[in-house]
Amino acid sequence: MSINMENLWMPYTANKQFKAAPRMLVSAKGMYYTSDDGRQILDGTAGLWCVNAGHGREEIVNAITETAQTLDYAPMFQMGHPKAFEAATKLAEITPDGMDKVFFSNSGSEAVDSALKMVLTYHRARGEAQRTKFIGRERGYHGCGFGGISVGGIGGNRKHFSANLIPGCDHLPHTYDFEHMAFSRGEPEWGAHLADHLESILALHDASTIAGVIVEPVAGSTGVLIPPKGYLKRLRELCDKHGLLLIFDEVITGLGRLGTPFAAQYFDVTPDIMTLAKGLNNASVPMGAVVCKNEIYDTVVQASPENAIEFFHGYTYSGHPLAAATACATLDVYKNDQLFERAARLSPHFENEIHQLKDEPHVKDIRNLGLVGGIELVSREGEVGARAYEVFLHCFNQGVLVRYTGDILAFSPPLIISEEEITRLFSTVAEALRLVK
Ligand SMILES: Cc1ncc(COP(=O)(O)O)c(C=O)c1O
Repeated sequence: MSINMENLWMPYTANKQFKAAPRMLVSAKGMYYTSDDGRQILDGTAGLWCVNAGHGREEIVNAITETAQTLDYAPMFQMGHPKAFEAATKLAEITPDGMDKVFFSNSGSEAVDSALKMVLTYHRARGEAQRTKFIGRERGYHGCGFGGISVGGIGGNRKHFSANLIPGCDHLPHTYDFEHMAFSRGEPEWGAHLADHLESILALHDASTIAGVIVEPVAGSTGVLIPPKGYLKRLRELCDKHGLLLIFDEVITGLGRLGTPFAAQYFDVTPDIMTLAKGLNNASVPMGAVVCKNEIYDTVVQASPENAIEFFHGYTYSGHPLAAATACATLDVYKNDQLFERAARLSPHFENEIHQLKDEPHVKDIRNLGLVGGIELVSREGEVGARAYEVFLHCFNQGVLVRYTGDILAFSPPLIISEEEITRLFSTVAEALRLVK
């Protein structure tokens, strides 16, 4: 297949490297992509942690075609259309109790920026407009908007934009500690006390100036960092003690990845706000969402005069008909096929298989929870990321798609994966580890 590659500037991609040796996917069904040379590629990453119900679901495809023929677009500013309301209602059926209000965006990055603005609007509505600062966490990824990179904790995402980040952000330390956690199965026993760093950050800034804390319950993009047992509960207690809103960025953990609808239910910790995207509509049409406690919506809406817009925020495509229709269809698929329960059932096998690789060459650590896992490799001297890239390439050539970040391999298959496919996924990685230098 000959394709002109001159014009497209690819996102988060080494453009020169990719264009010199492209890897093209041309179709997808179920657990498999098809590459342009006709090979079947087992999807070990659900695309980008997002195609949780598997590829090409008929129900979702039908929702797209029927909606496109009926209502291609409708404005949501001072207007409405039924599917957007239906999608919010269906979503509220599976969110934690008391979190029934839904704001739609078009991506995880937009969901994060929307959530930050929602927090500020809420504090202002209740007479605490001085609460303007946010606490994120090192190694946190919250998308690539200016809000997201400001609360995010990835140096590489921030360095080029450091003079332009939103002011008043600070960061908790990340939750990973090799010495105490290596090869933990599920939640590490050690490290709940890391949440207590929030107290010293609050002392520095004065708690009354802090609006909220945002964390990924499980940090995905920086290499699958599982929170220590009790850590999120402790964070919740400290936020309550100091009047801060707690945002869980559930863009990856949401919609069944851990075997429950959201990480909030897995860890039995209810945040004030959750940000979602990816699995929300199986990534079939760009979509994100912010879900908040009813009290936040009620406070903001009631504080405003009649006829006034209460929340000065929104996107032309918030609740787009195609996105809303696919969210409805996807949430039905999850329910009808009991995919979250399936993920929970498969996770012990996933855990056993990933930890089988403990003694393979180059393996430094293995981490897992639900259907998400990471294998950290020892980096080659002066060549961080090179080894994982070669493993990724080898797997791709063998018909298996994995993801890597630095020298950490990440796995997050669609929840429809079979036990045999899980075994194949990790045996292909094992083979690759034996081959790379
Ligand atoms: C936790 C988290 N938040 C936000 C985002 C950004 O989502 P998007 O790429 O849809 O903007 C991501 C993307 O990977 C993510 O993992």
